Amino acid sequence: MTGRHLEYIIRELPATHDALRLVAALHHEVLPSRLHASEDSRAKFLDELVDGLNGREHLALAAFTEEDQPVAYKLGYLTGNRHERFYSWLGGVHPFHRRKGLARALLRAQHEWARKRGIRTIETQARGDNAGMLILNLQEGFQALGSIYAVDQPGVRIILRKPLQ
Ligand SMILES: CC(C)(COP(=O)(O)OP(=O)(O)OC[C@H]1O[C@@H](n2cnc3c(N)ncnc32)[C@H](O)[C@@H]1OP(=O)(O)O)[C@@H](O)C(=O)NCCC(=O)NCCS
Repeated sequence: MTGRHLEYIIRELPATHDALRLVAALHHEVLPSRLHASEDSRAKFLDELVDGLNGREHLALAAFTEEDQPVAYKLGYLTGNRHERFYSWLGGVHPFHRRKGLARALLRAQHEWARKRGIRTIETQARGDNAGMLILNLQEGFQALGSIYAVDQPGVRIILRKPLQ
């Protein structure tokens, strides 16, 4: 899948260490909690990305500048045996490239990809204090299903679901 949004180019990435290294590096610039992660923890995170996507039907999308700098990403995978649910796992946009519609463009590309495959619902989670993610997801048709306490960080995560078909 290749598309464009404004001056950005959207590409599908294979779930390999080489391709996802870009996404892992960007994730550490996007999430303040990861800014000071050690080299070990960064390497482990990259392994988690590759392992999380491989062996499942998945979609890894990234947006690049015209100079080929990665600035946004959105990763997800199918859950369960049947084509019934897609889990949108991780997404983010580099702080210098926010509020230009990139997160919305990647979300729509992901939902279109899933809808075309006959996937019935899409689920995601967002931290209760993540206004940007929550607002965007609600604007794009997700509904809040409930909340869970995160095991890794303080605070709750809101579980969101959107019917696709
Ligand atoms: C949330 C995030 C992905 C939004 O990316 P973005 O490209 O700036 O979003 P968009 O430009 O597509 O915004 C779409 C809409 O979402 C809403 N929105 C986005 N960021 C917002 C914010 N900080 N506060 C309130 N609403 C926000 C707005 O309604 C916006 O539309 P508008 O700009 O026309 O008003 C980005 O801020 C980010 O990467 N945050 C940190 C990463 C993160 O929290 N990831 C989740 C854990 S994996």
